[in-house]
Amino acid sequence: MSEPRKLFIKSYGCQMNVYDSHRMADTMAREGYVETPTPEDADLIILNTCHIRERAAEKVYSELGRVRELKSAAKQQDRQVLVAVAGCVAQAEGAEIIRRAPVVDLVIGPQNIHRLPNLVSRALGGKPIVDTEFPVEDKFDYLPAPTTSKTKARGVTAFVTVQEGCDKFCTFCVVPYTRGIEVSRPVKKILADVERLAEDGVAEVTLIGQNVNAYHGVGPDGQAWTLARLFERLSEIPGIVRLRYMTSHPRDMSEDLIKAHRELPKLMPFVHLPVQSGSDRVLRLMNRRHRCDEYLKIVFHLREARSDIAISSDFIVGFPGETDRDFEKTLDLIQNVQFASAYSFKYSSRPGTGAAKLDKQISEAVKNERLLHLQELIEKQRHAFNESMRDKILDVLFEKSGRLPGQVAGRAPYLQPVQVMASSHLIGQVAPVRIIDVGSNSLFGEAVTMTHAAKPIAMAVGVA
Ligand code: SAH
Ligand code: SF4
Ligand code: F3S
Repeated sequence: MSEPRKLFIKSYGCQMNVYDSHRMADTMAREGYVETPTPEDADLIILNTCHIRERAAEKVYSELGRVRELKSAAKQQDRQVLVAVAGCVAQAEGAEIIRRAPVVDLVIGPQNIHRLPNLVSRALGGKPIVDTEFPVEDKFDYLPAPTTSKTKARGVTAFVTVQEGCDKFCTFCVVPYTRGIEVSRPVKKILADVERLAEDGVAEVTLIGQNVNAYHGVGPDGQAWTLARLFERLSEIPGIVRLRYMTSHPRDMSEDLIKAHRELPKLMPFVHLPVQSGSDRVLRLMNRRHRCDEYLKIVFHLREARSDIAISSDFIVGFPGETDRDFEKTLDLIQNVQFASAYSFKYSSRPGTGAAKLDKQISEAVKNERLLHLQELIEKQRHAFNESMRDKILDVLFEKSGRLPGQVAGRAPYLQPVQVMASSHLIGQVAPVRIIDVGSNSLFGEAVTMTHAAKPIAMAVGVA
């Protein structure tokens, strides 16, 4: 029998890309490809790319330089290596990628990955192929679940796409162009995915979408279901003990979703809710369609619904025209909210977006200075939030072996990694842990009692 062909996928960018990479691996598994962790022995190399900031997009070209060397080394041994660029750079740049990097055989947009096997076999013929047409067919008709019957789920936690694309058109952002219009998957398909994941031993599901709380998929009753209603239904699936979601837009943070945080104990007390700026003037220029006071009101209501809820965010500094005063307002908002964590970025001008045409672009030096300042403040808040966990007993869902021998690692309800010296039998279970130390990224704890730890999972879940 001949050796199976090998596939190497490298994922950049957001969770949606990670999910898509799994889908591509699953699709190619049906064609006889097995995944390899190194590109050196791969017959098919896929770079699943991100276009969100200039640096992210440029990374692809430097990686393609390395791939070119691998491909020519393989050729000398008479081995054909196929190179594919998928994801958002593929969608945004299309054929330009092959012009800049002739090592590439196939460019495939994120909406088209159901066609991957067919495109690969055509590309093996030697002619470069570009497929970035938005499909006329319903993209979700072709969206296979994250695992097929042949491939088991990959662990204790899993992501499930419920919504893709975005219609918000924030003026800095490429996503509406690379991921297309907003589409929600039908409830039935999501239930089927989550039920199968639960059977495979998955205990925590994170629903993902570029704008996940805009979810409005059709339910079995023919009505459009909200994300809150979907969570209520998913809460009933045996074996699923934790539910999460990412990424939310403040505009779509509806009352029923806030209420779900009060009423559904399986819905974890963590909300990633990007605000981008604390200045209404900048928010308007960004076309964010919400003001700061509205954001603060949402945070207030979330905390009213669930007092321990952790809030995280994304920030952009140095948006065109951002003044010192605007930036100070962002710092004020951060002081006001007290975030558990946040991502922050220097504004990066993206071709084709509205903000790229604005004048008053901010200098790199000012961006650097503001980013440093903002990150210092966020870091203080993150540290204070983690310190507040000291001596508390938190429910931890154990996911894998820890960093040191004898350690198991899991996550707190608020998403921090927790390391505990305990038996690996805990993997897949929720158990109470007393936090005894706080590191720069992880919390350290001890399992409270073995009798507690041995409780049925459903009983160990609950409000910390
Ligand atoms: N859908 C999400 C976020 C998508 S992109 C939302 O609405 O917030 C993830 C983050 O990247 C954004 O929240 C933003 O902070 C950042 N980002 C997007 N475009 C950017 C750009 N051109 N320059 C710098 N940061 C950007
Ligand atoms: Fe981009 Fe704005 Fe859509 Fe988020 S809401 S994906 S930032 S356009
Ligand atoms: Fe990047 Fe595309 Fe995700 S641009 S952040 S990979 S949607």
